[in-house]
Amino acid sequence: MEKKHNLAVFASGSGSNLQSLIEACRSEYIKNAQIRVVFSNKKDAYALKRGELAGIETFFLNRKDFTSDEDYDLNIVKKLKELEIDAILLAGYLMILSEPLLSAYEGRILNIHPSLLPEFGGKGMYGIKVHREVIKAGKLKSGCSVHLVDEEIDGGAVLAQREVDVLPEDTAETLFAKVLAEEHKLYPAAVRIFLESLY
Ligand code: GRF
Repeated sequence: MEKKHNLAVFASGSGSNLQSLIEACRSEYIKNAQIRVVFSNKKDAYALKRGELAGIETFFLNRKDFTSDEDYDLNIVKKLKELEIDAILLAGYLMILSEPLLSAYEGRILNIHPSLLPEFGGKGMYGIKVHREVIKAGKLKSGCSVHLVDEEIDGGAVLAQREVDVLPEDTAETLFAKVLAEEHKLYPAAVRIFLESLY
């Protein structure tokens, strides 16, 4: 029996991408993989509740209990190694990863971003702000991207994208919702392909 990939999902918010990944693993759309743990930097992140409801181990670390991002991330790596995590999926995780995590999981960290990278990515570009900028720029298309995570914010290789039309009547809020619905399809599809390439 092929070993199951142990996946860690990092989330700071509602966890709707986490939910689609949980369902994709359980339905075996993503084969030979399980969400082994859900981690958050926010104690009240609903993503942690989703993990608990799904019977998945969760853990939280308070950044204020650590002297630096590196010390914080070193402690995250320690826990991930104990759980034999093979890959990390960022899903609305609002911390920037520091060197201990990036080096321990080099080439095995994915992120989903709500724009067609490389446009509308980078420092400060997350959440509703991305969609406001897309509309302000008068774009006719937007969408979401799954990319490898490296030291450059939203800079790693893009693995997959899905597009949506930006209609004249669209607001940042309606665009957010349209793109999020595509994220829920894109992330599982990208993870499935990624894991096939991992081993
Ligand atoms: C999504 O918009 C995603 O693109 C971004 O953060 C949001 C996560 O939403 N990375 P959720 O917590 O998965 O619902």
